[in-house]
Amino acid sequence: MAIVFHKEQNYFSLTTNQTEYQIKIDRYGHVLHSHYGNIVNQDMSYLFSYEDRGFSGSPAVAGTDRTYSLDVLPQEYPVFGMGDYREGALELENADGSYGVEFVYKEHKILDEKYSLQGLPASYRNNNEKVSTLEITLMDDITQIEVKLLYGVFEEKDIITRATKVVNLGKEKINLLKVDSVSLDKNLEKELDVIHFHGRHNMERQYERTAIGNSMFSIGSHRGSSSHQHNPFMILCDKETTEAYGESYGVMLMYSGNFLGTVEKTQFNQVRSTMGIGRQGFRYPLEKGEEFIAPEVILSFSNDGLTKLSQNYHTFIKNNVVRGEYKYKRRPILINNWEATYFDFDEEKLLDIARESSEVGIELLVMDDGWFGKRNDDNTGLGDWFVNLEKIPGGLKNLTTKVNQMGMKFGIWFEPEMVSEDSDLYRKHPEWSINIPNRTGVRSRNQFVLDLSRADVRDYLVEQISAILDSGNIEYLKWDMNRSLSNVYSESLKPSEQGKFYHLYVLGVYEILERLTSAYPYILFEGCSGGGGRFDAGMLYYTPQIWTSDNTDAIDRLRIQHGTSFGYPINTNGSHVSAVPNHQTGRITPLATRGMVAMTGTFGYELDITSLSKEEKEAIKKQISHFKENYDTIHEGEYYRLSNPWENEVFTAWQIVSKKRDKILLNIIRTRQYANDPIFTVKLKGLVESSHYRLIGTDKVFTGASLMNGGWEVPRAKEEYQGFEFEFEVVE
Ligand code: DGJ
Repeated sequence: MAIVFHKEQNYFSLTTNQTEYQIKIDRYGHVLHSHYGNIVNQDMSYLFSYEDRGFSGSPAVAGTDRTYSLDVLPQEYPVFGMGDYREGALELENADGSYGVEFVYKEHKILDEKYSLQGLPASYRNNNEKVSTLEITLMDDITQIEVKLLYGVFEEKDIITRATKVVNLGKEKINLLKVDSVSLDKNLEKELDVIHFHGRHNMERQYERTAIGNSMFSIGSHRGSSSHQHNPFMILCDKETTEAYGESYGVMLMYSGNFLGTVEKTQFNQVRSTMGIGRQGFRYPLEKGEEFIAPEVILSFSNDGLTKLSQNYHTFIKNNVVRGEYKYKRRPILINNWEATYFDFDEEKLLDIARESSEVGIELLVMDDGWFGKRNDDNTGLGDWFVNLEKIPGGLKNLTTKVNQMGMKFGIWFEPEMVSEDSDLYRKHPEWSINIPNRTGVRSRNQFVLDLSRADVRDYLVEQISAILDSGNIEYLKWDMNRSLSNVYSESLKPSEQGKFYHLYVLGVYEILERLTSAYPYILFEGCSGGGGRFDAGMLYYTPQIWTSDNTDAIDRLRIQHGTSFGYPINTNGSHVSAVPNHQTGRITPLATRGMVAMTGTFGYELDITSLSKEEKEAIKKQISHFKENYDTIHEGEYYRLSNPWENEVFTAWQIVSKKRDKILLNIIRTRQYANDPIFTVKLKGLVESSHYRLIGTDKVFTGASLMNGGWEVPRAKEEYQGFEFEFEVVE
C-alpha cells in the first residue's frame, strides 16, 4: 500500500514509484507538512525548527513554550487568523464575525480507491491501477467545523492529487472567504524559480520563469473562467533546473473558474505555495450541516528536470483525466469552416468544402458559428438554438445526411453559456442573464452570460442542445465561450448568497457537460473559449481536446504550444492548418510548416479548401496520410521539447518517441535564417544509447548515443519559416 501511517512516529507516508509525500501529526495534534520529493523512508520532521522567534507567537495549546510557532512550522493546511502570518489556505468568518479557528487531527481513513468529488471533475483510477486515498479529518472543537484533507496517490504515475472539504458541524452559519485546494510548504535550500503560463487572447500560455524573491508572487483569474491571461498551473523549480536535470514541482488546478495561485518566500527562508479558487468574488455561506468541496489539484514532483515533470502530467491527463470514447480512439481529422467563411456561408458552401475535403482524406466537417437564429455577425442570435433555414434550407437532417454520404462526419459549434442582447431568448428571459439589478451590464461582444446557477436555465440549455443533436447525425461538438463574467448577480440567490455565484456558475457548466457527454457518448467534444481561454484540466475531464488558440499562425503557435506542453499532452491541443497570409498575423509560412505544427496537436484544417490549387490539395493529401501513419506515435508517444522558443530565435525543435520506443519523429522549424549561417545542432532525447536508428528514406544509421550526445544539425532554410521533419526507426 502506497499510504502508510507510522503510528509510533505519528506520520503518514504517501509513496509513488519515485516520490514521497509526508504529513506529520505533531505533539499538539497540528497537522504539518514534513516532506515532498524523492523517497526518503524516514520521518522528516527532524527538520522542523523550534526557536524562540520575535513576532512569531505560540498557540494557546503550547502554553508558555516560546519555541513552538505555527508561523514557522510547515503546515499541511494553514488557516488565516491564528498566528500563522503566511498566506492562509483557509479563511473563514465565524458566526460571531471573528476569523479564528484552529484545526487539529481528529481521525483518518485509508481507502483502496480514488476519492471522487460531488459535482466537480476529479481524476480517476483505471482497472488494476495502484491508486489509494488518504482522508484526514481535522476539527476545531470550539466551532465544530471540520476540514477533510483528501489525497489521491497514483503510484505508477508519480502523481498525488489533493482536494479539501469543509463541513460545518456547528450550530450556526459561517462564511467561507477562501478555501484553497492545496498549500505546500518547503524549506528553501536553493534559490527557487516559478514557471507559469500567462498570455492574452490569441497568445495564450506564454512561458515565463521568474525568480522567487522576498515578495508574494501570484497568478490568477477573476474572469469567471480560468482565462487566457493565466493558466491554473505553475511549476516550482530550482534555479538550475533544466529540461533534463534538477528538481521541479507541478501544481495544477483541475478547475475552470476563478483561481489564485501564490508563491511566497517567507522571513525564515521557507516557501509556501497555495492554489485554489481564490478570494476575489468568493464569500460562501455554509449553513449548519452543509459541506463545501474545493476542486482537485494535481501535484507531481520530478528530480529529473522539467521534461519528466511534463511527461508525468501528459500520461496522467491522457489516462486518468480525459474520459469517454475518444480517450484512446483515433480522433477524426477535421476541417472547420470558421476561417474559411466566418459568418458568410450557406449549405451549398459547406457541401463544397465537405466534398473537396473528403477527396483529400479529411474526415469531419465542423460547421462553426453562424448556423442558428439570426446570426450573421457576432452581435446577435446567441441563445436562439434553432437552425437558420435561410442558410441551411434543408435543415440539419438533410445536411448531415449529405455530408455523411460524402464519407465525412459532421460536427457543430455552440456557445451555450451566452445570450445575445439581440436574441429571442434575451427578449423572453432577460432575467436569465447575469446582471446586477438596476444596472446595465458590461457588454462584451454584445453578449451577456447566462445564469448557470439556475436549474431552469441549465435544463433549458440541455433540452435545446439535445434537440439539435437529435436532429441529424452530429458526431462532434465545439463548446465555445467568448466573454468574461462581470456584473455578477443571480436572481435565484439571496443577497447573502451572491458570493457563491462564481463557483455555482462553474458547477453549472460542469453539470451541463456531464449530462450531455453521458447522453451522447459517441460525440467528440472540443472545448474552446475564444481559443484557449479555458484550457484546464477541469474542462479536459469533459472535452478530450480544447481549441488551443484563435491564433493559427504556425510561428506564434510554436510558443503557444510549447507553453501548453508543460502541463498538457499534445493530443489535447486543438491545432489546425490555416490559410496564408495568416488571418491573425498576416504572416506567410510554407504549407509543410503549418502541417508540422498542426500535427503536434489534434490536427485539422481551417481554410477554404475550395480555393486551393491542385498542388496544395495534393500536398494536403500527403500530410493527411503521413499523419494517419504516425498517429499512434504522435498521440500516444512521449513528447520532448528540444529548444525554448523564448530563448532561441533561430529554430524551435521538438521530438516524439513512440510508445514502443521504435520510432522517432524530430521536428525543426526555422524561425530565423541568417546569411552564411553559423552551425546549429540539436540533441535528441529519450533514445536508447546502444540502439541503432535508421533515418527513414535513407540507409543511414545512427546510434542513440550519437544522436543524444552529438546531436543533429539544424538544416539551413531555403525559404522563410521552413520546417523539417526527420523520421527514424529502430533497426536493432
Ligand atoms: C471563438 C473561437 O475560438 C473560434 O474558433 C470561433 O469558433 C469563433 N469563436 C466563433 O465565434
